[in-house]
Parts: sequence; C-alpha cells; structure tokens
Amino acid sequence: MSPFLLTRTLPEDATDAALRADVQQGLTSTPKTLPPKWFYDAHGSDLFEQITELPEYYPTRAEREILIARSAEIAAATRARTLVELGSGSSDKTRHLIDALTGLHTYVPVDVSESALTQAGQALVAERPGLSVHALIADFTARLELPDTPGPRLLAFLGGTIGNLLPAERAAFLASIRALLSPGDALLLGTDLVKDEQVLVRAYDDAAGVTAAFNKNVLAVVNRELGADFDPGAFDHVALWDTADEWIEMRLRSRTHQTVKVPALDLAVDFAAGEELRTEVSAKFRKEGVRAELAAVGLELTHWWTDSEGRFALSLSTAR
Ligand code: SAH
Ligand code: TRP
Repeated sequence: MSPFLLTRTLPEDATDAALRADVQQGLTSTPKTLPPKWFYDAHGSDLFEQITELPEYYPTRAEREILIARSAEIAAATRARTLVELGSGSSDKTRHLIDALTGLHTYVPVDVSESALTQAGQALVAERPGLSVHALIADFTARLELPDTPGPRLLAFLGGTIGNLLPAERAAFLASIRALLSPGDALLLGTDLVKDEQVLVRAYDDAAGVTAAFNKNVLAVVNRELGADFDPGAFDHVALWDTADEWIEMRLRSRTHQTVKVPALDLAVDFAAGEELRTEVSAKFRKEGVRAELAAVGLELTHWWTDSEGRFALSLSTAR
C-alpha cells in the first residue's frame, strides 16, 4: 500500500485557544456571530455529507457533473504532479480529478476535520496504488506550509466553500493561496452562481431539516468544548437571501429570552426572544466577479465551465 501521512500543523491546544477566542468575541459582538469552521467536528462532517445528498442541495451534484465532464481537460491543461485540496472533506468528487491526473505524485488534502481526512486518506491510498497522500490538519485561512513535492502544483478549492468567507477574508485568502503557487501552477475553484432566490433558500433550508441540524451542531460543539449550556431546541434555523451582498445568510434565532452560560469563558450571554446569531454566509458568484477577484491577486482565468443547468461553475486560473 502507498504511503498515507497525516500532519497536524497546529497543536490541539491552539485549536482550543482559537475556539475560545472566536466564541468570546462572537458572542459578545452585536449582532452575535460564530465562525463556520467550528461546524465541522466528526458529527458536523457526517451531517455535511448528508447535506450533499439532499434533493434540494444541488451544488455537489452540479460540481460533480462538471468534474466528470472536464477532468481530462483539467489534467491536460495543468499536467499537475501535486494536487493540493483545501477543505477537502470526504474527497469524494476529487476522485474524478485524481483519476484523470495520470502523472500525479502526491495528493495533499487540507482540512480542519481530522475524521474526514483520516477516512478519505485511508480509502484513497487503498484504492490508488502508487499515489502518496499527505493530509494536513490545518486552517486554510491561516498561513499554510505545504510539503515539498514535485510541481506543477494544482490547488483545488471545491464545493463553493470560498463563498463561506466574507469579502475581506476572501481577498486576504486569495492573496495567501496565490503565494503558494509558482508561475505555471494553477487554481481550480468551485463557485456557486447567483440564481433564483427560492432555489437558493431551499438548498440551505431543506425539508428534512438536515441543514437545520448542521447549523445547530455548532452549539453542540461549544457545549462540549467549553461546557456551555446551549439548548439547540431553543433556537430556530434561518436561511435568508441577501440581495445586496448576493449571499445566503444562515442564522440561529432564539425562540425565547434566555441566558446561556459558557463556563470556560466565565461568560453569561443574554439572548432576547427572536434575537439572531449569525453562523455562516454562502456567497454566490458571477463570472466577471470571479475573474476580477482572481486577477487582483495575479491569477488569470483561463477556463470557465458550468453544469448543464448553469447553476455552478468550476474555473481554472493560472499563476503568472
Ligand atoms: N470539498 C468538499 C467539502 C466542502 S464542506 C465538498 O465539496 O463536498 C467544507 C469543508 O471545509 C469541510 O470539510 C470543512 O471541515 C472544511 N473547512 C471549513 N473551514 C475550514 C478552515 N478554516 N480550514 C480548513 N478546512 C475548513
Ligand atoms: N460550502 C457549503 C456551502 O456554502 C457549506 C454549507 C452547505 C453550509 N450547507 C450549509 C454551511 C449550511 C452552513 C450551513 O454550500
């Protein structure tokens, strides 16, 4: 069997410190917020995998359709020997790309979810003899140190996850990933597209309530890690389309006036009845906007592919 390496780039107590800082800051701001990376403990990663199979959640199927149709072209255009994937999760769709990249030497999945990385990495090395997999437990918004592997390098960021960063974070993030690329290396970026409001809202507020459970999982994480006493049943899941910002905003709305204690932070947080905690945005894109954001960091858009219904785009851009 080929090698599977798992590197933790942050000590576990650093993750703990980051969670404390984020929760302290977020629950004492107006409006209250909690950052999305804390959704993805083992249970959160499982719930996300269930989301990808919901009838209302089209992005995963649309992006898979594009990858099936275009992986050969991506392979021919990039000739990548190292594939780095940020927020790789189950690496499920990525298999189409890995299969097409015949000269691939190393796959580097990067994720905050150790359980997702271990499952995906172990399955991949068993299935693909000769491929080495070097998984990194890391926060992709922090400074990343990639293993020293042969180029050309292809950096993939799929699933529309870039839309979960706020615009200022997104610009800083794009600049930092550009710094990981040498001239001739490429970025493969998945972006969900602006479309009918009803279709968008349903994708983030499904009939079976899986997205609601996923959104509330962040409360369970804070309960477990910081000893808080959030009652997930005392909050309603809310998904709204923000026309001006062109993003879906996810919130948790307090059903009643309540006080939540967070002992590890020595904090008591008051929620008014109806008060909303913002948990995540999922921005939707247009081609010219994507092109401009990439150009701003020195990446030139060379390919733009959409699924047959024009819902989701995969773009390839090259570092100059
Ligand atoms: N790429 C997969 C998963 C998308 S879900 C797909 O397209 O289906 C988003 C993934 O990003 C999750 O696996 C989550 O654990 C990871 N993630 C979220 N924020 C992160 C961060 N700041 N650093 C690293 N990984 C992150
Ligand atoms: N990257 C996914 C997206 O924006 C993440 C996601 C899907 C998500 N459904 C969610 C995040 C619900 C929070 C809540 O589509």
